[in-house]
Amino acid sequence: MVDVKNVLVLGAGLMGSGIAQVSLMAGYNVILVDIKDEFVDRGYAKIEEGMKKLEAKGALGGVTAADIMVKCTKSIDLASAVKNVDMVIEAVIEKMDIKKQVCKTTMDNGPSHVIFATNTSTMSITEIGKDSGAPDRVCGMHFFNPVPLMRCIEVIKGANTSDDTFNTAMDFAGKLPCLRGQRYIAPVLKDRPGFIVNRMNAPVIIYLHWAFDEADKRGIQWERLDADAGGKMPMPPCVLTDFTGIDTNFHIMNYYKETLSPDFEPGKVIKELNEKGDLGPKTGKGFYDWSQGRDSIMEKIKKAEPAGIFDLNTIFAIMLNEGCRILDEGISSGFKVIDDANMAGMNAPGPFGAGKKNYEAWAKVLNDLADKTGKEYFRPIDLMKSGEFLKMRK
Ligand SMILES: NC(=O)c1ccc[n+]([C@@H]2O[C@H](COP(=O)([O-])OP(=O)(O)OC[C@H]3O[C@@H](n4cnc5c(N)ncnc54)[C@H](O)[C@@H]3O)[C@@H](O)[C@H]2O)c1
Repeated sequence: MVDVKNVLVLGAGLMGSGIAQVSLMAGYNVILVDIKDEFVDRGYAKIEEGMKKLEAKGALGGVTAADIMVKCTKSIDLASAVKNVDMVIEAVIEKMDIKKQVCKTTMDNGPSHVIFATNTSTMSITEIGKDSGAPDRVCGMHFFNPVPLMRCIEVIKGANTSDDTFNTAMDFAGKLPCLRGQRYIAPVLKDRPGFIVNRMNAPVIIYLHWAFDEADKRGIQWERLDADAGGKMPMPPCVLTDFTGIDTNFHIMNYYKETLSPDFEPGKVIKELNEKGDLGPKTGKGFYDWSQGRDSIMEKIKKAEPAGIFDLNTIFAIMLNEGCRILDEGISSGFKVIDDANMAGMNAPGPFGAGKKNYEAWAKVLNDLADKTGKEYFRPIDLMKSGEFLKMRK
C-alpha cells in the first residue's frame, strides 16, 4: 500500500474545500488546486474560517487553526503541483472531458505511485481512468455534503482499479475525521451508476414522480401530499425536491433513465416545473412559494389532511428491492454495508433491518405498485422475493 503523506485536492469548490479540510485535520499536507487564484483563495478562506470556528469551540484537540493551515498550500498549476504527492482527490465540475484530462495530467506528471481518486457522483470511474496511462491507480472516493459533517464515504473500485489502490484509498478515507460521529467507509466493489447510497434511493424518485402526477390529476394540494409522510421524513417529498432543486432532480432522473432503465423517465409535474423555471428556493418558487421561508411551509403541512397517495412502507419496499439489486450485481457483498452506508450517508435507516421480516409482504406491495404505475422496474427481483438475500448479511 502507498504510504500517503502528501495530498492534492483538485477543485476548491463546495466539496473540494470540505475534503481539504478533513484531510488537513487528519494531519496530511494538502495542496489545494483550482483554475484561478480567486477560486483557490475562496476555498482556502472557507477552510480557514471553519478551522477557526473549531478552534474557538476547543474542537481541534490542542492544536491551533494556524498550526493546521500551515500545512495547506495553494496552486493553479496541476502539472507542477502534483510532482510530489501521493494521493489526488478530484472534485472539479461534473464534466467527463475535464475529469479525464486532469486524471491524465496527474498520471503524466505525478510520481509513479500517485493515486487519483475521483469524487464524481454520476460518472464511470473506469471511463475517467481509461486513457490516463495508469487506470490501475484510479478509483472513486465519493463524499457526501457537507463533507466534515456527513459520516459516509464510498470508495469505488473501477474495472481496472488495482487491489493496492483500492486498499490504500479505503485506508486513507478511514483516517479522515468526521465532526458528527464515527466515519463509515463503504467499499463499492463495482463501478455502477449511483454506487450504493444514491442507487438504493434512486427508484424511490420514480415513485414520488408518480405521486406528484397523481396529486396533480386529482387536484390535491402539495401540502396534503407531503402530509402523507406523517412527519416521519426529515423533509417530505415536495419540500425535499424543491430543496434539492427541480432541475437537479430532473437531471438525476434522466441520468438513471440512460444508465439503469427507461422507467426513470421524469414525471409530468417535474417536467413542467423544470420548463417553467420554478426550481425551488433558488428561484423563489417550486412546488411551494418560498418567499415566507421553510417554517411557514412546514406549518401548513402539519395542519394538512393527508392525501393518502404515497406511504413509507412502499418506500422501504422499493429500497429493499434496489438493495437486493446492489447485492445481485456484486456492487456490495453484504446487506449490512448497505444499511450502514444509508445511515451514514442519508441519516436514515436502510431497508434490510425491517425487510428481514417483511420481504414477502413487500414483494406483494411492489407487484401491486408495478401494476398500478405501469413501471416494471418496481417488480421484486428473485433475490428479494425469495428471501435469499438473508444469507448475505456481511
Ligand atoms: N455538491 C454535492 O452535493 C456533491 C456531492 C458528492 C459529489 N459531488 C461531486 O463533486 C464534484 C464537485 O462538486 P462541487 O459541488 O464541489 O462543485 P463546485 O462547482 O462547488 O466546485 C467545482 C470546482 O472545480 C473547479 N474546476 C473546474 N475545472 C477545473 C480544473 N480543470 N482544474 C481544477 N479545478 C477546476 C471550479 O473552478 C470549482 O471551484 C462534482 O464531480 C460533483 O458531482 C458533489
